[in-house]
Amino acid sequence: MLLHGGPAQLPEPDCRRSEKRMTVDINTAVVTGGGHGIGRALCRRLARDGVTVVVAELEPDAAASVAADIGGIAQVVDVGDEAAVQALVESVERDVGPIDLFVSNAGVGYGDANGNAASREGGMIPCDDRWQACWNVNVMAHVYAARALLPRMIARGGGYLVNVASAAGLLSQIGDAAYSATKHAAVGFAESLAITHGEQGIRVSVVCPQAVATRMIGIEDDAESVDGGFGGNDVDGILSPDQVADDVVAGIHAGRFLVLPHPQVHTYFQRKAADHDRWIAGMQRFRRKLTGEER
Ligand SMILES: NC(=O)c1ccc[n+]([C@@H]2O[C@H](COP(=O)([O-])OP(=O)(O)OC[C@H]3O[C@@H](n4cnc5c(N)ncnc54)[C@H](O)[C@@H]3O)[C@@H](O)[C@H]2O)c1
Repeated sequence: MLLHGGPAQLPEPDCRRSEKRMTVDINTAVVTGGGHGIGRALCRRLARDGVTVVVAELEPDAAASVAADIGGIAQVVDVGDEAAVQALVESVERDVGPIDLFVSNAGVGYGDANGNAASREGGMIPCDDRWQACWNVNVMAHVYAARALLPRMIARGGGYLVNVASAAGLLSQIGDAAYSATKHAAVGFAESLAITHGEQGIRVSVVCPQAVATRMIGIEDDAESVDGGFGGNDVDGILSPDQVADDVVAGIHAGRFLVLPHPQVHTYFQRKAADHDRWIAGMQRFRRKLTGEER
């Protein structure tokens, strides 16, 4: 597999298909949550590299807009609904072609209510609904995609699954227990996929960024600055969605399981593994700093 390298650029409308610069066995890709943020950047990057991209997205307008921009195909889908994911895979394989790459990127996070990791209270949505939504979108959507695709990919000798988790899946997201727990589950599921199906030609990458300038951290698409929007707190290096998309493509090119757009995450992960108690104490201090309990 050879992927086109180089810096991310916005594609010229209507020029991608004629200029296939991605000499790969990836002809067709599906990107969930492709309407905004990291997913949108990935759709653009893949289309620029000559891949036919299916923008699978909950918001119809966002799906249509990105698909029109890149000459791709819009599919409105709730990835937390297994029947919808199954129907998505069937329709793409029937009408577009075999799915070579499926990026499970859609994700949600709501934050703890009242600073309590196990609160029964509602925050943006009632507590158990919040946990359920995180479970459905951050974990089960990956399972549903793999369930629909593995038999097809194995039968044709291979395929690529990219699951976007988070650094919260290796470390933790302070102030969001449901997000942290489900992103850990997403990393664990990706490991299981790679271990169980790697020898059947299934390649798997799990992407674990820290802060990325998207709506998820309060930064609108195409915001001119990627610096604010995180509650005014110091953030350890906010990346643009385009930078993350480039790192994901580089990770695919290298066949790398763990894609870490923020290299410092590797160091933090090693420190956590080396001394878990010390890492927890450090995170407690960091939490106090973030909440203003300690300066
Ligand atoms: N932004 C960050 O700081 C950050 C850091 C680490 C990991 N991530 C992960 O990156 C992924 C992309 O997030 P983002 O930052 O681009 O956020 P975003 O909110 O900009 O984009 C998420 C997209 O997913 C879509 N979506 C949500 N629920 C869906 C569903 N049920 N079905 C289909 N589509 C759905 C949304 O409509 C949106 O287009 C998520 O998995 C997120 O957890 C983000």
